[in-house]
Formats: sequence, structure tokens, C-alpha cells
Amino acid sequence: MSPPFPDPEEEFTIETRFSPSALAVVYEGSCLDLLQCMPSEAARLVVTSPPYNIGKAYERRIELDAYLEQQSRVIEECHRVLAPGGSICWQVGNYVDRGEIVPLDTVLYPIFRSLGLKMRNRIVWHFEHGLHCTNRLSGRYETICWFTKGDEYIFDVDPIRIPQKYPGKKHFKGPKAGEYSGNPLGKNPGDVWPIPNVKNNHVEKTDHPCQFPVELIERLVLSMSEPGDLVFDPFLGAGTSVIAAIRHGRRGVGAETDPSYVQIARERIMLEARGELKTRPMGRPIYDPIDAGRSLTVNPYFDRKTGQGKLAMERRKTS
Ligand SMILES: C[S@@+](CC[C@H](N)C(=O)[O-])C[C@H]1O[C@@H](n2cnc3c(N)ncnc32)[C@H](O)[C@@H]1O
Repeated sequence: MSPPFPDPEEEFTIETRFSPSALAVVYEGSCLDLLQCMPSEAARLVVTSPPYNIGKAYERRIELDAYLEQQSRVIEECHRVLAPGGSICWQVGNYVDRGEIVPLDTVLYPIFRSLGLKMRNRIVWHFEHGLHCTNRLSGRYETICWFTKGDEYIFDVDPIRIPQKYPGKKHFKGPKAGEYSGNPLGKNPGDVWPIPNVKNNHVEKTDHPCQFPVELIERLVLSMSEPGDLVFDPFLGAGTSVIAAIRHGRRGVGAETDPSYVQIARERIMLEARGELKTRPMGRPIYDPIDAGRSLTVNPYFDRKTGQGKLAMERRKTS
């Protein structure tokens, strides 16, 4: 596949229909309609976060079985358009019914498996912000189910390595004694990714209620596709997957049913193409107490003598 940006002087445009040579496509309508126009084996990476059927503004809640049936139709079509050696990354959380949770990856897994796709990782995306639950522990992770089409697949960990914990550590015995023991390029980031989710104070926040942070998708794009490849997102939302794709010289295609999100996606993609989109950079540490300001880092409820939260101690005494 040829690199997508042959002429830097060429004006960047976002197509509204699928075209094999387009750098960016944002289709307004159902992903199944867009998929019908896409040739088999066109995409190297399918990455998405589908509706979770939990009654968000953009979805109509239906029975779980009906939801799985709908998902199955989309996944089958995504499998058709996926090139051999390509990857599907399906990012999901929980379906919740009257307080009972159903982790969606557990019920979606058989659909991928029935198509012959092979799971390579179940990446845990950990974040700090979300609903505060009272009858169960607050949910602070979701998963990205990574499947490949075939055993020979594109994967390069180098562009997504993270700093070593002990970069100065050396072998202390054996033939390599005295040499640094870690990979100088950094370490494999593992399958638990602490990356802030996009809530109100996040630099990327738009009116979309649950957009991906760009850095999350950059990791997938960089490790699972090559320059010029096509990255497809059937549930595009605010356009994040296309942004991550074009940022790294890939082509991006996505569908979105809600016209207001289509508008947001288009604006963000154009900003990205001009190099003006503000995003949280890959690799920035999650939390810096100095940046947070002292007033936010001193705990007013902390008892220095016991090392415990005062309120929790009082509650334990009275109960
Ligand atoms: C969880 S959000 C995806 C957010 C996205 N990852 C982002 O970074 O903004 C799911 C999106 O799918 C859209 N959607 C729902 N059904 C759809 C369909 N059949 N085809 C395309 N988009 C759909 C919803 O409007 C919603 O914006």
C-alpha cells in the first residue's frame, strides 16, 4: 500500500462516501450501509467502541440478545473488510441491567471466535474518572479485545514502548555483567494501560459523551498498522480513530449516525490535518501533584496519628 500523503501541498479533504484512495472518510449514516460499499480485505485495522446498550443519548436500549444480534451483523462485515494479517480492536465496558453487570467482552467473544478471529490480548484500559457507585465498586476500567485475522499479523511494539522503571539497571553476573539489562528503546507497555478518559477537564473534551482519548488509539494504530494502511471505525463518534490514523500517515474511514457528532468529527479531523488539534500527548505522566496545586493535594480528612481517613474511622466506631 502506498503512503497516503504523496503531495504535502495538496488540500486536505474529508470524503463523505467510501473511496479507496481517500485519506479521510466520514460517512453520515449506519455503518452497515457504509460497509456495503467497502471492498473485502480493504482495512488493516478495525478499531471501535460500539454503543453499550445502556441508554446513552445516542442509543435506544434493547434486549441484550437483540443487541448481540446487531453487533454480530456489524462484526461479520468488519471481518469481511479486514485484510489477512489485520486486527480488530473492539473496546467495550459493561451492560448494566437493574444493578447487574454483564461485561460485554464476555458475551461478544464467541462472535469473534466463530469467525475464526484469534484473540491476542484483552487490554485493560484503566482510568480514574466515572460514575460513583454505591451498591458496587465504581468501575474504573474497560477492555479492548484485540483479535487478528490469521496467525501472521502486523504487530510492532517499538513505536509504543514506554520508559523502563529502572533504566539504569545492569546485569550483575553472567556474560553480560555490567551491561544495561533493559531494552534501550523502552519496555513493552503490557496489557494494562492507564490512560485518562475524556471527562470535563480533558483537553480533548467535546460534546460527545464518551469519546476515546486520541493517545489510546494512537497506540493501536502505531503497533497494528503501517503507513498507508486503512483504519476503519464503524462507530466513529467524535472522529478519534480517523484523527489517530491520519496523524500517523494512515488513511481513516468511519461511520456515524448522529449528524451533530459527524459535525464534531469533521471539525476535529480538519484541525488535525492542519496540525492544530489539541490533544494529550502520548507518554505524558498521568498525574503530577505539583501541577495539580497544593490545595488539591492536601487531604482535609486525613488523621496524621492513625494514618487513616477520619470520617471512615468515625463511621466504623459508630457502626
Ligand atoms: C461509544 S460511541 C463511539 C465514540 C468514539 N469512539 C469517539 O472517540 O468519539 C458510539 C457511537 O456510535 C454511534 N452509532 C450508533 N449506532 C450506529 C450505527 N449503526 N452506525 C454508525 N454509528 C452508530 C453513536 O451515535 C455514537 O456516537
